[in-house]
Amino acid sequence: MRSVGIVGLGSYVPENVVTNLDLEQFVDTNDEWIVSRTGIKQRHIAPKDMPVSELCYQAGLKALEDAQIAPEEVELIIVATITPDYAFPATACLVADRLGAKNAAAFDLEAGCTGFIYAVATGSQFIASGLYKTVLVIGGETLSKILNWQDRSTCVLFGDGAGAAVLQQVEEGFGFLSFELGSDGSGGALLSQPAGGSKCPASLETVEKNLHTLQMEGKEVYKFAVRIMGDVSVKVLQKAGLTKDDIDLLVPHQANMRIVDAAVKRLGISKDKVVINLDKYGNMSAASIPIALDEAFQAGLITEGDIIVMVGFGTGLTWGACVLKWTKVGLKR
Ligand code: ACO
Repeated sequence: MRSVGIVGLGSYVPENVVTNLDLEQFVDTNDEWIVSRTGIKQRHIAPKDMPVSELCYQAGLKALEDAQIAPEEVELIIVATITPDYAFPATACLVADRLGAKNAAAFDLEAGCTGFIYAVATGSQFIASGLYKTVLVIGGETLSKILNWQDRSTCVLFGDGAGAAVLQQVEEGFGFLSFELGSDGSGGALLSQPAGGSKCPASLETVEKNLHTLQMEGKEVYKFAVRIMGDVSVKVLQKAGLTKDDIDLLVPHQANMRIVDAAVKRLGISKDKVVINLDKYGNMSAASIPIALDEAFQAGLITEGDIIVMVGFGTGLTWGACVLKWTKVGLKR
């Protein structure tokens, strides 16, 4: 099996910033509550006429430029999202078309906030096996479009954005050292968009009952998240033959500062090794981890040979983590 790594990164968030104070104007909440319970201070929200494919396109373009790869060289595009442009066609196909990635297969992958981890795990298999040389993986969301803006328990938590990574073969010993993925569908109802699928097709009644918006049992998701983030990080390190002391950088899913703090405490690593940007963006689901990784790289926090752990949890329920030994030098063009 070939070693696979990330050779290009890119991210994009819409311009429009909505602060906690802005939210106070139309929903019964306040900055103090949101900051103390979540750590979130603001989020970026896409305009009405901007679908998730646009965010994914912008992020994908930047990642290809960063990797100095032409769109025609991309052989597969995977978009991880729970807010696709349509139920079908796949957002990945629309993004491939916008990019001019004429030689790429394309499909969407749905694993909620774990989507990016699932997508890099999936995409890297195509390179490890020798089937493809270049895969573009994008995590993108426009959660603002499926929120109930009257529901203060959910609307304050989320934001829009997209992050992308170009995968290629890298030198042996570098790149992804291990993956750990899991699911538990018995917890599916804890975080869902109940209507619009085959179980509950769209009708006047579903619209009136707000069943096309995100519904969440926050407390239950919280308990699950705290437990799983620490556990899955330990497991993925064990698989790579490493321990927590080997971690140079932890890139956790950016849902809630208290969840990250609890997971970091459970893991027993220093907080200055943890990438945090949820104060600026809120929870962007599948986009959170790649945007945090890109920002960490742009800030010079990542150097050749660093051990990076990325870990997430989300609807499904799903969870996932990977260990990445950093190099940005691809072997096959
Ligand atoms: N502003 C003011 N008060 C609020 C707000 C708000 N925005 N939201 C809730 N409250 C009130 C509640 O009504 C409640 O009031 P009450 O005691 O009078 O009934 C009180 O605050 C406490 O509410 P809790 O729900 O107990 O608050 P909690 O401390 O559990 O925090 C939170 C809620 C932030 C949602 C937390 O449970 C959480 O972070 N859960 C995890 C959510 C998550 O990570 N989801 C993403 C999953 S990833 C994916 O796949 C998309």
